[in-house]
Amino acid sequence: MLDRLDPPDRAKLTAAYHAMQFVEDDMRIGLGTGSTAEWLVRLLGARSYLEGLRVVAVSTSERTEALARSVGLRTATLEEAGWLDLTIDGADEVDPVLSLIKGGGGSLLREKIVAAASERMVVIADDGKRVDTLGAFPLPVEVVRFGWTATRKLIEDVLSSTDLDGSTISPRMKDGARFVTDEGHYILDLHLEYIDDVDSLAPRLLAVPGVVETGLFIDIADTAVFGFASGEVHEL
Ligand code: 5RP
Repeated sequence: MLDRLDPPDRAKLTAAYHAMQFVEDDMRIGLGTGSTAEWLVRLLGARSYLEGLRVVAVSTSERTEALARSVGLRTATLEEAGWLDLTIDGADEVDPVLSLIKGGGGSLLREKIVAAASERMVVIADDGKRVDTLGAFPLPVEVVRFGWTATRKLIEDVLSSTDLDGSTISPRMKDGARFVTDEGHYILDLHLEYIDDVDSLAPRLLAVPGVVETGLFIDIADTAVFGFASGEVHEL
């Protein structure tokens, strides 16, 4: 069955499988969102069923929560779990110092809250997510719905005052309507191409009224596991 997976899926499964080494009995674990994280959830479900692994899982999206329950994992809210031992999540881009772009699946806010409430964050990704510089993947910014066009204008002003002047911003759509996050917000995707100064961009975007969170994850990830379709892995 596995050889029928396409190469990106084999790489994602490989990364998720190798991240299992970080999971121990009785851990409270944050579960990410996205196709790579879903492999992890399935593997955790299999280990729980076959090996009796006991973990409490806190999901970063409704989609992950449904999958976690369906594979028999014990789930809890972050409030119930209190603090987490480990979060394992995917990413859209990972740079050499483990700064990330996340939010391609629209769950960046919960993902950041859960990762920040964890002792350790492990990123799992196919090797194609490695980049030298963040920015080719559009940067998701979660904004409140009220006045979102004004928020977009203010974000444009922030970009204009940097070398990112001229970048475009698109509201995320799904099935012909504006995409709404699990927290009831919109997402603006910033097409930046190249983020020269990640450290200064994040706080400037967060200072705009209406911006709830950005998909820049800086100083949050501790380890990245990159999977290849061949079954090899590289850890950073
Ligand atoms: C969701 C995310 C995902 O982790 C990211 O988009 C990677 O997804 P995938 O594993 O499907 O490539 O940040 O908000």
